[in-house]
Amino acid sequence: MSVFRVKSVEQSVRDTEEPEHRLRRELSALDLTVFGIGVIVGTGIFVLTGRVARDLAGPAVALSFVAAGIVCALAALCYAEFASTVPVAGSAYTFAFATLGEFPAWIIGWDLMLEMMLGAAVVAVGWSGYLNSLLSTMGIKLPAAIAGEGSVFNLPAALVVLALTAVLVAGIKLSSRFNLIIVTIKVAVVLLVIAAGLFFISPDNYTPFIPPAKQTPAVAGLSAPLIQVLFGVSPVAYGVLGIFSAAAIVFFAYIGFDVVATAAEETRNPQRDLPIGIIASLAICTVLYVAVSLVVVGMQPYSQLSEAAPLADAFKAVGQNWAATLISIGALAGLTTVVMILMLGMSRVVFAMSRDSLLPRWLSIVHPKFGTPYRITILMGLVVALLAGLVPLSTIAELVNIGTLFAFVIVSIAVVILRRTRPDLPRSFRTPLVPLIPILSVLACLYLMLNLPVETWLRFVIWMIIGVVVYATYGYSHSRLTHPAMDGGWEAGSARGV
Ligand code: ALA
Repeated sequence: MSVFRVKSVEQSVRDTEEPEHRLRRELSALDLTVFGIGVIVGTGIFVLTGRVARDLAGPAVALSFVAAGIVCALAALCYAEFASTVPVAGSAYTFAFATLGEFPAWIIGWDLMLEMMLGAAVVAVGWSGYLNSLLSTMGIKLPAAIAGEGSVFNLPAALVVLALTAVLVAGIKLSSRFNLIIVTIKVAVVLLVIAAGLFFISPDNYTPFIPPAKQTPAVAGLSAPLIQVLFGVSPVAYGVLGIFSAAAIVFFAYIGFDVVATAAEETRNPQRDLPIGIIASLAICTVLYVAVSLVVVGMQPYSQLSEAAPLADAFKAVGQNWAATLISIGALAGLTTVVMILMLGMSRVVFAMSRDSLLPRWLSIVHPKFGTPYRITILMGLVVALLAGLVPLSTIAELVNIGTLFAFVIVSIAVVILRRTRPDLPRSFRTPLVPLIPILSVLACLYLMLNLPVETWLRFVIWMIIGVVVYATYGYSHSRLTHPAMDGGWEAGSARGV
């Protein structure tokens, strides 16, 4: 049987009703939008802004946020159509299964695991960094062996992951309430940065807005963007090219609106609410990001922005320590929901893959009382806790980006395919100007991917090769398409879902 066998949209939707594998429908459009903001606003704006402005873009980092925001908006329009047509937990994995076939779907699922697993671990490490700096302002010093970047085991990062795993197991409604409280604090802090920061802007810091291009050690060797290596251009920072290399990195700040689609089976009216949640959360965050980045580079010369806590430190630099403390508290609170929702998304994707028997099917049994895929959630929680504890993750953010951009490319292509193969399906949201928007989305994502460092590409290729091996040795032979008679399995259909 072909590895490109597809699973019909109807079958995917039917599977969501299996009693042992059914999630609880409790979320509204507002819950989803707040989920989106909860997972989007995090390390990207609170941490990466400083490093990227200093090393790559200068004050023009605001333009990098605009560029990355446009790429995301194109992809978001494609996600919105798919989510309204195939409201099933796996997001891009399920969309790919309905259009491109089992193997591409597996590849995407594997890729999403990378995105969300590493994303959660990266942000947990960032969380622990903020905790450390807050504790040290209160005069408490954790032993270096168990906290901070150079630690043997980053204990706070691992513990926060385990605590959030418990919240996720306890139910989607509880997770959503917890999220609402934190998001309120987080957005208040971001608005505070914008409003208070305005008073400390010195216009000199904006000139030159786009610093002249120059070679720097930060972009040499394997750290150079692939595009510059491929075309033999000597790698540079700043200038117009610098804006795009920076966009490929601050893209991390937008990751998460795609995670909203993984909550499809827990949404009361997914056809209507998913597109709202995806697009509204992205739009709100884009406005916040551009404003924050403009303010921060206005407060301090870009070359002096701090690496670990640029927002808080910009306020310290203008003598406003009270604001710095508030920002650190807000960031600490804010990063918890990012970790939580990335883990939520990851568990829902693995849930969908396991329900299809591409991973062991017993993993996707839902908890009888809490209605959550608790086995997967706990297992994933342990893996993320270990990663966050053990792996030095400062450069892994880029690996998360490449994984996500790859998923965006596939979803954009899949929208066009599904329009051709299943024009009959009801679509409560339609991507405008198909195929123009999906094509632009693919090109923009590929361009940002090319702007990522060579070493990121190497790591990505290695992860994907491991994925192919797992599929060849387990997924293909266990798939419910290989065993239609077992486990209430189903027949492979054509793209028309026959
Ligand atoms: N967008 C999320 C963050 O910036 C992943 O932390």
